Amino acid sequence: ISEERTNNSKVQSQYQPYKDAAWGFINHWYPALFSNELPEDHVEGIQICGIPIVLRRVDGKIYALKDQCLHRGVRLSEKPMCFDKETISCWYHGFTFNLESGLLSTIVANPNDKLVGTTGITTYPVQEVAGMIFVFVREDDFPDADVPPLSEDLPVRFPENSERFPHPLWPAAPSVLDENAVALGMHRTGFGNWRIACENGFDNAHILVHKDNTIIHAMDWVLPLGILPTADDCIATVEDEKGPKGLVQWLFTEKWAPVMENKQLGLKIENTKGRPYRTSVVLPGVLMVENWPEEHVVQYEWYVPITDDTHEYWEVLVRVCPSDADRKKFQYRFDRVYKPLALHGFNDCDLYAREAMQNFYADGTGWDDEQLVATDVSPITWRKVASRWNRGIAKPGRGVAGALKTTSL
Ligand code: FES
Repeated sequence: ISEERTNNSKVQSQYQPYKDAAWGFINHWYPALFSNELPEDHVEGIQICGIPIVLRRVDGKIYALKDQCLHRGVRLSEKPMCFDKETISCWYHGFTFNLESGLLSTIVANPNDKLVGTTGITTYPVQEVAGMIFVFVREDDFPDADVPPLSEDLPVRFPENSERFPHPLWPAAPSVLDENAVALGMHRTGFGNWRIACENGFDNAHILVHKDNTIIHAMDWVLPLGILPTADDCIATVEDEKGPKGLVQWLFTEKWAPVMENKQLGLKIENTKGRPYRTSVVLPGVLMVENWPEEHVVQYEWYVPITDDTHEYWEVLVRVCPSDADRKKFQYRFDRVYKPLALHGFNDCDLYAREAMQNFYADGTGWDDEQLVATDVSPITWRKVASRWNRGIAKPGRGVAGALKTTSL
């Protein structure tokens, strides 16, 4: 075994929990649906971290329960059956569950069975903000009292003029939790493990993938061949006790040196043109790119584990729109510029690259066989932080993907 190989193994052993998290990190908040995908009295089935989840909206309020009947295990959402506003019944033999508590409240054709009232299915806390529905996906015995606020699993709220996390150009990004925040976006199923997708989102070494994207040319940019870290503080970890956990990096600043030439291949960039970006990623795998695709807009991405080889890829743009006119303008730009040029034109290349990596990592050996280099500092840092702060590793789940469709707002 070469020394290099031994060192590689030492680094890898520092993030073993991450390597074990093929089905994702459990006991975290994840986006489940856009609000308009769950109208009044509708039932929808999804799957996150291998756990089937059924959502129902009643009088505006959303309930989420394990989508697995405790009698014989069928999915309740497969053939929704609801007789009142308090329950959902299994369409097969009629086990009926209270929406709020998950308790088995009756059995349609066997109301006096001694099982009634003694057992139930897991429920999941729900929060709806800015047109998005978030679910706290938890283990069956995770107590209500320990559920953290959604803000702990959302990208960091960097204070304005922060000395520790300075922004190179523009004010801090809006959050979905802001007053008048509007979230527009889409989600679709990616055929690859969620970790590969997540790492691609903030991978500073993958500029090459985007070199011919229309949006780059439309903005009249010239990208370098790549960027190399020049200082230890090119990346900072975010590990405040009562806050999100992850990392932040400042791309295209003096903390990274542009690579302008590769003599062997005869490649030379004369002058780069572009602007700096602050990007960050936090548990359970949420990316934030501030002022992208344009000033005052922020792009969030979630890579929600469905199974160990599929994830739901969420691309969401947020802008604070205090007036109706602001909302209309944001929607107009979204439909005509951001969605075709950024969410598709730019990010389709990312999705392609992630899916191309899947075979190598599919059986788990890729995490040991990969050969990382100096430019891979951001995924290595992320893996360590995620290993240190995750709230649990999801167990292998049953079943197949539950949300195999592309949905847009
Ligand atoms: Fe649900 Fe039998 S499987 S009631």
